[in-house]
Amino acid sequence: MKQLENIGTKQKNINKICVIGLGYIGLPTASMLANHGYYVVGVDIDEKRVELIKNGELIIDEPGLMTLVKGAINSGNLNVKTEPEEADAFIICVPTPVIHDKNNKDNNKNNNKDNNNETPKCDLTYVLSAVNGIKPYLKDGNLVVIESTIPPKTTEMIYKLIDKNIHMAYCPERVLPGKILKELVENDRIVGGIDEESSELAKEVYKSFVDGDIYLTNSTTAEMVKLMENTFRDVNIALANEFAKVCTEMKVNVWDAINLANKHPRVNILNPGPGVGGHCISIDPWFIVEKSKNAELIKKARELNDNMPKYVCNLIVKEFKKLNINNPKVSIFGVTYKGNVDDTRESPAKKIIECLLSNDFNVSIYDPHAKVFEYPLNKLEDCIKGSDCIIVLTDHDEFKNFEKEDIYEISKLMKHKIVIDTKNILNHNLWKESKFEVKLLGDGTTWNVK
Ligand SMILES: NC(=O)c1ccc[n+]([C@@H]2O[C@H](COP(=O)([O-])OP(=O)(O)OC[C@H]3O[C@@H](n4cnc5c(N)ncnc54)[C@H](O)[C@@H]3O)[C@@H](O)[C@H]2O)c1
Repeated sequence: MKQLENIGTKQKNINKICVIGLGYIGLPTASMLANHGYYVVGVDIDEKRVELIKNGELIIDEPGLMTLVKGAINSGNLNVKTEPEEADAFIICVPTPVIHDKNNKDNNKNNNKDNNNETPKCDLTYVLSAVNGIKPYLKDGNLVVIESTIPPKTTEMIYKLIDKNIHMAYCPERVLPGKILKELVENDRIVGGIDEESSELAKEVYKSFVDGDIYLTNSTTAEMVKLMENTFRDVNIALANEFAKVCTEMKVNVWDAINLANKHPRVNILNPGPGVGGHCISIDPWFIVEKSKNAELIKKARELNDNMPKYVCNLIVKEFKKLNINNPKVSIFGVTYKGNVDDTRESPAKKIIECLLSNDFNVSIYDPHAKVFEYPLNKLEDCIKGSDCIIVLTDHDEFKNFEKEDIYEISKLMKHKIVIDTKNILNHNLWKESKFEVKLLGDGTTWNVK
């Protein structure tokens, strides 16, 4: 096995870059590099995705991406295929989902007191298979960069698996879906090399299109930075969610209370919601928990946020019992994990829908952004026809911007006029004008039950 110090002479010229994984992160990155003078080979194991990209069709709804990709392909600087080839640098952007591993002995030893031996951990299968895929094409002096989110010390572990004198760095991606192209360019970047030379070399590549500052560190620090950013958000959202539950119990409006508490110069409480979803915040904190026996608060916050969909569902089920509406038909507005994106991965909406279905609710769904979801998506009219209640789970602009006339038209199609706003985004006065009963997550004054 290779030692970290044993590196040898390396070539510095990078002209050709192989980007492995052409999803939300890999495709914009590959196109950006191609538009900044590199010859880029984009690789994805999904043949259908590769064909779509070649034909200028995208399954990702990201503003400006289509134009960027088409420009890169037409310039001849971006070629997409299903197999890697020799290059000067390789950038790995494949998924790192979480798996619930009943047999994770290390983790059970560290954390497991009461979680039935199921401790979520990072599934490195895709990263390892991407590394194995590029191995036959790697030459001494090549640069390998991992952008996928990974647990601390993974870059070092992978470096030791590669039997070549390569440069290697971890360069976490910190973009916001919906603003990926802007943030790819404007955000500061963290580059964590396995050694200083690797950091410098990776920096040269990113400098080609990044306007933000590029900070150099070591690979494990860079891995921690990425995980700490998302954990910070997760823990703070968990606190807001706990406040929402407490305020409901106390018959207080949490949104008013947060607003007033945030008048304090050193307080900035985040907004509560129906749960935390997406490919990052709901997953990344587990990568710290799996590696550290000290991550107690992080684990608790993760569990609290994971339980929010169940809390929301139970509240709704109890409320309908109180209202004496049997087998209610509810219309779900929004199933993506956040507003104005098409991404439904890890969306809390899925868990809420499953819970409502298991309580004999009839559920129909409307989402103006989502294209792929586990349950059928309907047009607005079909979704609300004969419905007893609208449940808003995502803060899409379309819902915020409903006009008085829209709400009146919606009300005419409904059986009962109840709307549940879990994101506090509707214009409640307008809905009340159309005789809707408005219930707000975290506002104990609007619920009959606690
Ligand atoms: N999406 C985000 O906003 C975001 C932000 C920051 C970090 N990240 C991280 O970036 C990584 C990639 O995320 P994403 O959202 O782009 O994922 P994605 O699912 O959109 O895309 C990943 C792509 O990799 C392909 N793939 C899987 N295994 C492969 C292999 N062995 N060889 C070639 N291609 C392979 C898949 O077919 C897929 O097209 C993840 O670790 C994620 O946590 C994502």
